[in-house]
Amino acid sequence: MVKARIAVLVSGGGTNLQALIDAQKSGIIKSGEITLVISNKKDAYALTRAEKAGIDSLVIEKKGNERFEEQIIEALENNETDLIVLAGFMCILSERFTKKYENRILNVHPSLIPSFCGEGFYGLKVHEAALSYGVKVTGATVHFVNEIPDGGKIILQKAVNIEEGDTPEILQKRVMEQAEWKILPEAVEKISKTFVKE
Ligand code: GAR
Repeated sequence: MVKARIAVLVSGGGTNLQALIDAQKSGIIKSGEITLVISNKKDAYALTRAEKAGIDSLVIEKKGNERFEEQIIEALENNETDLIVLAGFMCILSERFTKKYENRILNVHPSLIPSFCGEGFYGLKVHEAALSYGVKVTGATVHFVNEIPDGGKIILQKAVNIEEGDTPEILQKRVMEQAEWKILPEAVEKISKTFVKE
């Protein structure tokens, strides 16, 4: 069996990348293999996680870089990537990019889409918005990426309760533990399966 080759794009701490690495080790992900990690931030702890797991990584910075997406595409092509996973990747990709990889880019978002999503909703801001609205249930979503920010077809979702006294940080951690770190590996396996060559 030839596994799907997965590139993970990151910007920060990389706990979702870690969940994918762990899922690969435990066999939850068996149809795909992470072959490359790309970070747009050189000091992202996700890079250390990749190194510890023996996965090749690259830094491609966005600031002042007119060839940002071209350089990512070159790296993906060199790597013969089948599937791209955005795991805490804080950049919006152009329509040219998302069209090129139609149905081949997955993203994890820390809310139940279509709530608290789209441009400007990322990281802690999503949880701040959920708390200030006063919803009682939030969660996470894994979806395909298209030209609309957080607008592609939903693959998996999981709900998480909001509790009395939650802060954005406490809620972020609960959403990660109860939802993101579970549904992201499950979705990656589900989609990787469709790329497997027998
Ligand atoms: C995660 O909660 C992820 O869902 C979110 O940022 C965090 C990254 O954490 N992504 C977005 O908000 C994208 N719109 P991590 O670097 O530890 O995986």
